[in-house]
Amino acid sequence: MDLPFPVQEVNEGAARLQVPELPRRKGPGTAGPWPFYNPTMRVNRDLSAVVLAKWPRRLRSALDGLAACGAWGIRMRLETRIDRVAFNDRSGLAARVIRENLRRNRIDADVTSEDFVSHIRSHRYDFVDIDPFGPPTPFLAPFFKEAPVGTGFGVTATDTAVLGGTYPQACIRRYGARPRRCPQGQEIGLRILLGYCALRAADSSKSIRPILSFAAEHFLRVVGIIDRQSPPPLAFVAHRDGEGFVQVREGERDAIGPLWMGSLHDVTLVRQMSPSEWTHPESARLLSTIQGEADLPPFFVTTDELATRERGSPPKLTSFLEGLRDRGHRAARTHFHLRGIRTDAAYDEILSVFRERMPSGSTGGSGPAS
Ligand SMILES: C[S@@+](CC[C@H](N)C(=O)[O-])C[C@H]1O[C@@H](n2cnc3c(N)ncnc32)[C@H](O)[C@@H]1O
Repeated sequence: MDLPFPVQEVNEGAARLQVPELPRRKGPGTAGPWPFYNPTMRVNRDLSAVVLAKWPRRLRSALDGLAACGAWGIRMRLETRIDRVAFNDRSGLAARVIRENLRRNRIDADVTSEDFVSHIRSHRYDFVDIDPFGPPTPFLAPFFKEAPVGTGFGVTATDTAVLGGTYPQACIRRYGARPRRCPQGQEIGLRILLGYCALRAADSSKSIRPILSFAAEHFLRVVGIIDRQSPPPLAFVAHRDGEGFVQVREGERDAIGPLWMGSLHDVTLVRQMSPSEWTHPESARLLSTIQGEADLPPFFVTTDELATRERGSPPKLTSFLEGLRDRGHRAARTHFHLRGIRTDAAYDEILSVFRERMPSGSTGGSGPAS
């Protein structure tokens, strides 16, 4: 096919794709003149395919709503049992690339180049994917209004600096929620995104049921189902020295939120998920970490924070985990942070185990560092 840019062939999952050959930097993509393909988003598509393989009901149709080169939609069609996947991208050039990629993968599918919101006003699908540049907010209210109860959805946000607390005012404007820049910033951002989805669903007398939510690379991802109306589990929290994150009233000076305080996942389904032959080993490792922490409470602690507080060197993560488990608590690594642990132990118990497991002679003093 004659395209106005140099192309390269890539294999991703079960898909063979022709994509623009462009110099790439790491991190989120930005809108450019050519259809978009970001190889670092493979982990997003890997895990999304794994989720769809364990979907609680038979999915007959799906829409890759902002499809760019069609990478995700083609993988959906090839790696899951969805019979009919449609592709939409408002860029006509993207639609041409999608058609070429469909031909290469011997897939027959509808391709449209419409505005996403206009498209979903006149089409129904069992699953709809929303993966824009930056914030998904402009698409969510219309989506939750149009899509019936039972519709599955995947939402990607790449405005992680906003959701993670680097630009709090932008987060308040965009998501109506106050973030916090801290080691737990990504989890808070994910809970802000879920809370925003829940509120937009509630505007249309619906609710959401998350199936899998996670953070990786430079993005946050929520895969869920629209449910019948029920009160969303939203709350505000604040970080208190010696207590960790505690629930507070909305008006408190340092209140973070509103946050989704329900589970990030359907824990039973997440436990059943397994990598496929197309899942990259790194994505499989991420899935395994998510499975390990799936039913533990919100918010984790990092050994960095505890070591600063205790003015000493942190124990090895494995030793810290073992110490918590020896005392009868459940504890696991979190996928949000390399040195983070999620546990059901109370904060004073976490501190006590941490002190016990610090390398001998490493303490520089007692009490929190100023
Ligand atoms: C981040 S890319 C999508 C990447 C793709 N999902 C993948 O997995 O590679 C965002 C795409 O959304 C398209 N887009 C932006 N606004 C849109 C709108 N209102 N309706 C439909 N497509 C839109 C852009 O043309 C772009 O191709």
